[in-house]
Amino acid sequence: MNRKKFIQSVGLLAASTPVNNALHSTNSEDIHNDLMEQSKTKFLNRNQVFHSDDEKKEPLKEPLEPLWAADEIRWKKIRKNYPKTPGIINLENGYFSHQSWSTLNKHLDFEFDINVETSRFMRTQQQNEIEKARVSFAQFLQIPTEQLAFARNTTESLNTVIMGFPWQSGDEVIIGDQDYGSMVEAFEQVSARFGVIIKKAAVPQQWQIQLTQNSPQEYEESLSAAYTELISDKTKMVHVTDLINLTGQVVPTARIAADVKGINPNIMVVADAAHSLAHTLGPFNYSFSHLLSAGVDAVGGSLHKWLCNPIGVGFLIVKPNWIEKIWPLMGDTGIAKNNIRKFEHQGTRPIQSLQTISTAINQHETIGSESKLTRLQYLKLTWMGIKQGPVERALFGEIKLPAKWEKLHNQIIDLSTLTNNEGKNKIRIFGQPVIILNESADGNGLILQNTKAAVPRLGNESSTSVLKNSNLGIKMLPTLPQNLYYYQGAIATVSVEGYSPAQLAKKLLDEFGIYTVAIDHPRVKGVRVTPHLSSSFEDCFRLNQALAKLAK
Ligand SMILES: Cc1ncc(COP(=O)(O)O)c(C=O)c1O
Repeated sequence: MNRKKFIQSVGLLAASTPVNNALHSTNSEDIHNDLMEQSKTKFLNRNQVFHSDDEKKEPLKEPLEPLWAADEIRWKKIRKNYPKTPGIINLENGYFSHQSWSTLNKHLDFEFDINVETSRFMRTQQQNEIEKARVSFAQFLQIPTEQLAFARNTTESLNTVIMGFPWQSGDEVIIGDQDYGSMVEAFEQVSARFGVIIKKAAVPQQWQIQLTQNSPQEYEESLSAAYTELISDKTKMVHVTDLINLTGQVVPTARIAADVKGINPNIMVVADAAHSLAHTLGPFNYSFSHLLSAGVDAVGGSLHKWLCNPIGVGFLIVKPNWIEKIWPLMGDTGIAKNNIRKFEHQGTRPIQSLQTISTAINQHETIGSESKLTRLQYLKLTWMGIKQGPVERALFGEIKLPAKWEKLHNQIIDLSTLTNNEGKNKIRIFGQPVIILNESADGNGLILQNTKAAVPRLGNESSTSVLKNSNLGIKMLPTLPQNLYYYQGAIATVSVEGYSPAQLAKKLLDEFGIYTVAIDHPRVKGVRVTPHLSSSFEDCFRLNQALAKLAK
């Protein structure tokens, strides 16, 4: 029996069965379970619209084979697992993202159970559920369970460290000039309160960096230097945003941490990884354990962004030697000072959002990090209009697009070609991928190239051999070549000549039905565009055409 029929049949049964039938049972556990089932049936019936719809959603089965980013037919199936915002093209998925239908379903189930059990759940099962979530999430991050605490979001995780650090007047902290506003405010508060001096690193934007043979190394060195040159003997903390929310730029946090520790191992290195979780592969073997072993001491992030968990769960990783030194944000004297759980003294909170973590992880792993990231990159390239044969083949394979998409594909406009009378770009993109791959002339693999000038082959055996073996298009990709979009997530910001950020956001919404968010930052101005798994090729195509039209 399918789910809809099942729900309908139990619904009818429940309607025709007096609730107190359950009371005929003599076993109190059975009575409890029967009553729970009956109330649940009523609850589910109230949500008939959602559930009958859900039936069509074809839940993901695991594991999916690697998917080509441009395989619209298969991505459509995945997309069906996520809600779509009605009436608009929603390209602002950087704030938080849709839960998949499966995760939402679980969330409702858990919420139902807690709502029925109320304080009995909290008193008897809550801690057990938190511990279960801790184990599965720590496994996913590949970090020790005892270094992981849950918070409600990144803001809370990082405030725990920023407010709880044992500051003394005159201490210095180094932050980035594109760090997230809430973190900057937290440092401003400790500055006002404890006399801490804030130094801001001017973080180079990667598309401003001249590429050479050693591009990745030089990129990492130049970013690291922006922080390390500010270090003095008063520096107590370095705060790095791992993936910049304004541009999608992936910052080489591991390299920065290693360099900072090389200068002074006592400086605490803190990473804002709000956007890193389930979004970036960064360096090919990017992992949270890699960050820790490179020298990062604490990491904060959110599960409601790229992992698609329900709103309201963040994580905080703290290395053992720092746990004892950091004061918890909420007073806690009951838990040992060196126990990570002291950071979780939050009072009553929605445990159902922690209970869904394993489902959200499962959804993510079913699709696969690499398939997901290449898809997001493809959507980003689509709206930017970057079309380069070799890149497309490396990323997207040689699938023959159905005629409908082939036609649209051919109409994509490269936004970087639109210039004004003075030859200046009418459209400016903050976050376009600069490091891309091109086939070498001898057909012997791939070379690094930026959008303008070719550079010599990067001596990286693993990436070239992966691609050679793939024959550029037979099934094995999308394993990402090591340096392709190495420093980019799915986010970018775009401006159009003649429009302020707010005007552009309004125009896109009013005239084209496309929802983005205006960004007016000293170094980044325009509308931020963030596609996600619920976004389609057509959504990004429509943005491409809209931007081109506005620039004409
Ligand atoms: C870089 C960065 N840090 C921190 C945050 C805060 O995340 P949350 O709202 O989940 O606390 C955000 C939110 O977008 C962000 O982009």
